[in-house]
Amino acid sequence: MSTVEPKGAVHWIDHYVVGTNDLPRWSYWALHATGLPIQPINGLTTNMRKKNTPIFCFMWWEGGSCRIGAFLQPENYPPAKPLGQDMPRCGFYIRSEDIDKHLRRLDQHKISHTDPVKTAADGEEGTVICFADPDGNQYEFWAPAQMPEGAMEIATAEKVGRISHVVFGCRDLARTAAFFGKYCGMAVERNAKTAEGTLVLRMRAGARLVYKVVDQIDERIAGHSPWWDMHTALTVREAEFFPNYRRMWDGLPEEAGPKENLNDSREKEDAFPARTGLHRSPVGYQWKALYHRGDEFYDWDGHAFHFFGGIPLKNDGSLALYQGKEQEDYLRELAEALKKGAQP
Ligand SMILES: [Fe+2]
Repeated sequence: MSTVEPKGAVHWIDHYVVGTNDLPRWSYWALHATGLPIQPINGLTTNMRKKNTPIFCFMWWEGGSCRIGAFLQPENYPPAKPLGQDMPRCGFYIRSEDIDKHLRRLDQHKISHTDPVKTAADGEEGTVICFADPDGNQYEFWAPAQMPEGAMEIATAEKVGRISHVVFGCRDLARTAAFFGKYCGMAVERNAKTAEGTLVLRMRAGARLVYKVVDQIDERIAGHSPWWDMHTALTVREAEFFPNYRRMWDGLPEEAGPKENLNDSREKEDAFPARTGLHRSPVGYQWKALYHRGDEFYDWDGHAFHFFGGIPLKNDGSLALYQGKEQEDYLRELAEALKKGAQP
């Protein structure tokens, strides 16, 4: 990895969000699979139902710099592909010496999984175990030969570390590499052991985005109706948050409208370019109303992302360990800047 940090570089995956057809069942699955403590489900009051507020749950690692979440979907998911074949798949760091313990826990809770496999196919050497949640969303435990600093320091009581990577489907690897190079300061990692048709984009602290070439893009993505709110949040330095969005707002179109209002065919949805758009969160709606550009962005294959601010906790200035700065704080700064007639 280059020692010079590119402008606006992404350092970690702060959070990853899936869709579910049964939120209580998903949160107990997450407790059993990872050891993350159960958290309340949002959206389940009468007043929230009257406003049609999203029903969701986030579960977070200690310190709050890593989370997973699930949003209740409006329709039931079609069946997923076999384990290890459906995408996206979200990975979590584990230590290789704990592999047996993790397998025992998955078996104890009847969570289906693959056998551990040693591989270097996705950009680094290690051992992978694939598993799934009750909705068929897929995940991986990843025990790398070399553990990056910050990966296990916030591990759960069951010794599951932070998010290590996400694997996505992609129709054009070069186009995706150019997109993340330009807007997220991410370099393509080339390695003789990396599998054919695989793009590895490395983050500064050690995590990866992995894209696998496919003919047809993943079913369970935010760009596809009727699904919504599955996304990946990428950590950037606190001060790089607005400059990163400015580059995107300058360089990318805004979606024509929320997809539930557009009623487009799947074919049309799959032909949309990389773009920015409405982030379907309470803050996201306010953001869009205030600024007329959304704080969500989509890659060329309909996967949704947003940036997330990180403040270093270590004296060396790295984001190996960081404190998160929430979208809400940035929204306040945006509102204040606009009030003064300035850009954020
Ligand atoms: Fe998010």
